[in-house]
Amino acid sequence: MDKNHEVFDDYVMKFDFGEDKIKYKYNHSYRVMNECKKLAESLDFDEEGVFLSMIIGLFHDIGRFKQWSEFKTFSDKDSADHAEMSCDVLFKEGLIDSLEIPDNSEEVISKAIYNHNKISYDDSDYDEAEVIFCKIIRDADKLDILRNFLDVVMSNKSEGNISEKVRKDFFDNKLISKEDVMSKNDKVVLILSLVFDLNFEYSKKVVIEEGIIKRIFESFDKDIFKEYIDEVNRFLKESV
Ligand SMILES: [Fe+2]
Repeated sequence: MDKNHEVFDDYVMKFDFGEDKIKYKYNHSYRVMNECKKLAESLDFDEEGVFLSMIIGLFHDIGRFKQWSEFKTFSDKDSADHAEMSCDVLFKEGLIDSLEIPDNSEEVISKAIYNHNKISYDDSDYDEAEVIFCKIIRDADKLDILRNFLDVVMSNKSEGNISEKVRKDFFDNKLISKEDVMSKNDKVVLILSLVFDLNFEYSKKVVIEEGIIKRIFESFDKDIFKEYIDEVNRFLKESV
């Protein structure tokens, strides 16, 4: 991965590293890369598969740096789809040509990165490898967001009520759409709902073993969130 780290670092250093948001996404990218590696290993991937999962992890958010520089927001709805921006940087601007990647892996890299932030996506005509790499990056990204929920939530709006739509989707055990988030409390519910979309038992076990849900519960209003926390715990217990 040395060459790929170098390409990633050189690319990011073109942006203002003095900005906390840039630094956060830089560190997020490396953390997600490491989580992809662990996930791939938990699935008994060979060396090349682990390597590929790390490339997808490191570059999945490469469009974020441009997004922040151009729009000063990470809100896709107020700017542009950051997964699409990541694909543009890699495949239209040609950053991929500087990377060391397994032969014929452009397609899977592109599909996994493009779909990583979608609320849902159609993988019915994807091959087996494409399906699984899409799932790995989605889980790895969500695990990092769940671990760093305080950073994610604090950047959001005032407290406010939990919206009807957010509440309903949550108790249907659906991933909450960012578009429906109107308040900070909605955002907390969104963070909790990430658990419903985890694909692998490994990921659910990480959430349980690291006590992530308990930490979220301790950080926010217990009267408001108790029923939500109970629901996530019930879901986790039933699915591992
Ligand atoms: Fe992302």
